[in-house]
Amino acid sequence: MSFPRVKTSRGELRIHDSLDDLNTDLVEYISEISDASVKERGVFTIALSGGSLIGFLGKLCDAPYSKTIDWAKWYIFWVDERVVAKSHPDSNYKLAKDRLLTKVPVIPSHVHSINDSLSAEEAASEYEFGIRQLVKTRLISVSDVNDCPKFDLILLGMGPDGHVASLFPGHPALNVKDEWITFITDSPKPPPERITFTMPVINSASNVAVIATGGSKAEAMRLAVDASDVRPDSLALPARMVQPTKGKLVWFVDRQAALKLAGVQ
Ligand code: 6PG
Repeated sequence: MSFPRVKTSRGELRIHDSLDDLNTDLVEYISEISDASVKERGVFTIALSGGSLIGFLGKLCDAPYSKTIDWAKWYIFWVDERVVAKSHPDSNYKLAKDRLLTKVPVIPSHVHSINDSLSAEEAASEYEFGIRQLVKTRLISVSDVNDCPKFDLILLGMGPDGHVASLFPGHPALNVKDEWITFITDSPKPPPERITFTMPVINSASNVAVIATGGSKAEAMRLAVDASDVRPDSLALPARMVQPTKGKLVWFVDRQAALKLAGVQ
C-alpha cells in the first residue's frame, strides 16, 4: 500500500485515498505497536475512544490479525466514556464489546471499563483509582517527565468541532492538569454526562493516533496541524493540544479530511 506519509511538527500525517486503505494501515499500526509493547514489557495497554474508529477496529477480528496478535497480553481502557448503562447503545464500552472484544480472545479481567452504577464524578474518581493501582504495579508504565500513566497506545477520534476524548473546545475540563480522569455533566454532544482522560494523560502516552475522516473534519484538521496558525482559538483547539511530550503522534486521515492541509509543514 502506498500513500503519502508527511512528517510535520505536529506529528506524522498518513493520508489515504480510501477508507479501506486507512483501515488496513490503522490495524497494521496497532498490531505493530502491540507486538513491540509485548516484546518490550510483556503487556500492551491500549485506551479506546468511541465513534467511527471502533468500526475500523473490527478488521482486527479478521486474519491475519486475529491469529497473530497476542490478545492475552492486551489490557484495554477507555479514553472517555458516556455515563450510561453498559448495555445502553450510547456506551463506548458496548460499542467496542460488540465490534471487537467479544470476537477476539482478550481476557475479560483485562478489560477496564467504568462502573456504570455510579455518578459521573464517582465513576471518574473510581476509574482513576483503578488506573493508579495498575501504575503502581507498573502494568501501566509511568511517564518519564511527570507521574502520569504512560499508555502504550491511545486511540482518539476527532469531532468536526475539534474535540478529542470528551474534551470539548472552551470547556474547563480541557485545562484540568491535576487529575488523570475528570468528568463533565454538560457535554455539548449528547449524552451530557461523561468521564474523560485529561490532556496530561493523553500527552503522556507512548503513542497517540487520531483518526479523522470526512469533509466535516477538514477545518478542524487544518487547525489541529497547521503550526503556522497561532491564533489563540486555534492553539486552544483540543485536537491541537494533543502534543505527546515524548511519545509519537500519528494522524490517520482520508482525502476529504485532509482537504485543507495543502502547504502544511
Ligand atoms: C463521543 C465520541 C466522540 C467521537 C468523535 C469522532 O463520545 O461522543 O466518542 O468523541 O470520538 O466525535 O467521532 P466520529 O469519528 O464518529 O466522527
